[in-house]
Amino acid sequence: MKQTILVTGASSGFGLLIANKLKQRGYTVIGTSRNPEKYQDKLPFKLLELDISDDESILSFHKRLFEHIHQLDVLINNAGFYLSGLAEETLIEQGKLQLETNFWGTVKLTNELLPYFRKQRFGKIITVGSIMGLISLPGGAYYAASKHALEGYFKALRFELKEFNVNVSMIEPMGFKTNIVTNALVAENEISDYNVYRKKLNHYTTDLFKNAPEPTPVIETLMKLVDEKNPKFNHPVGKGASVIHALQHFAYKTFENSIIKNINKFKN
Ligand SMILES: NC(=O)c1ccc[n+]([C@@H]2O[C@H](COP(=O)([O-])OP(=O)(O)OC[C@H]3O[C@@H](n4cnc5c(N)ncnc54)[C@H](OP(=O)(O)O)[C@@H]3O)[C@@H](O)[C@H]2O)c1
Repeated sequence: MKQTILVTGASSGFGLLIANKLKQRGYTVIGTSRNPEKYQDKLPFKLLELDISDDESILSFHKRLFEHIHQLDVLINNAGFYLSGLAEETLIEQGKLQLETNFWGTVKLTNELLPYFRKQRFGKIITVGSIMGLISLPGGAYYAASKHALEGYFKALRFELKEFNVNVSMIEPMGFKTNIVTNALVAENEISDYNVYRKKLNHYTTDLFKNAPEPTPVIETLMKLVDEKNPKFNHPVGKGASVIHALQHFAYKTFENSIIKNINKFKN
């Protein structure tokens, strides 16, 4: 039997593309959006209402989800947005919303579904991070913080869920053409000292996204993660992304392996 897959943020961009692709390939797909009624008519899969920045919405989504499916094989945590702006020019409230959505929202939804995966003793949790979860760039301090936080959280979770045969992985795309820029929240607290730097940075970012490639490699990688039996944790995608990751990975892995060895020395 084909697997059942939940894709958050399936009304646009990566989420919409992967949900469509999975549906075409015969998977049972449930997608989510904050406004499903706006998109449902045009979609070949069921779209349920979910705002990951809202606790109530996560709870009521969880209740409704299992009215539509009997088994969940894969959770694709994709929903998120980009908060664009210089760190000091970003209101703390805006920064909080970025973390409440990209980090806390993703973690809370995952936690809500973890008891299910644990009891089932199989499943996959795939989270869409970003290359900004491995490096930080100007103009995206809070976004980078949210994506770094996801890397740290899921990197630990992957060990804990191995016990229950649940695979945890992440994908770290570079910039790709979606609606992320149009949907971005922009820092609201302009400080004139930054005028020149902000202008230069805006030119750079506009240029970068204007020339961003189509998201095909991201969708292919997500597809591979769904199909592979036991995928590894990190999956950087885009020009230069794997080099950044490989260089970081070597130093990190050596340190991490020694800690895991020490934990395993203890008897239960
Ligand atoms: N595009 C890139 O270059 C790029 C690079 C690296 C990582 N990413 C990551 O890829 C993921 C998808 O982004 P995208 O590029 O496809 O952008 P997008 O086209 O703007 O799509 C974002 C999706 O997230 C959903 N969403 C936003 N806020 C939400 C919330 N509070 N609760 C629930 N759903 C919410 C939106 O659904 P509704 O508005 O319908 O609710 C939409 O379906 C994000 O996590 C983003 O950080 C993107």
